[in-house]
Amino acid sequence: MSQTQTTEEVLVLVKPDGVARGLIGQVIGRAEARGYQVTRLELRRATPELLAAHYAEHVNKPFYPGLVEYMTSGPVVAVVLAGAQVITAFRTMAGATDPIKAAPGTIRGDFGRDWGDGEIRNIVHASDSPESAAREIAIWFP
Ligand code: RTP
Ligand code: MG
Repeated sequence: MSQTQTTEEVLVLVKPDGVARGLIGQVIGRAEARGYQVTRLELRRATPELLAAHYAEHVNKPFYPGLVEYMTSGPVVAVVLAGAQVITAFRTMAGATDPIKAAPGTIRGDFGRDWGDGEIRNIVHASDSPESAAREIAIWFP
């Protein structure tokens, strides 16, 4: 029988709005309820330097200054989840980037909204590929 390694890890952030609104437990609880394992967990503040590494693909985009303001507005919870196909599973659980477009039943679709100031506050971040996950886990848990 082949012993293919199928376990995967994903970096999840409960963003400042999720922490401020008391949703840490709901986010982690949904992942645990699905059967995924928490392997790292830390409450911390993101610095602009850390965010520039984490959001390297976005640093030159027009929304980036607002994103940094949002992500440094309070503490975040960095979580590593483990399990087969956890990246795809958690991205599906998070829902579309814009909470207004995120389906009901997803984290963003159940807990997010438009706050009327042009900033997309969407409760969680999740790595979008195995490469992103490895890169982001190394940034948050060096
Ligand atoms: P994330 O990286 O946080 O998991 O979110 P995502 O993959 O669904 O979305 P992404 O395109 O990577 O964007 C990263 C975060 O930047 C903010 N954003 N604002 N105003 C805008 O047009 C805009 N676009 C993106 C959101 O907080 C988004 O989650
Ligand atoms: Mg992204």
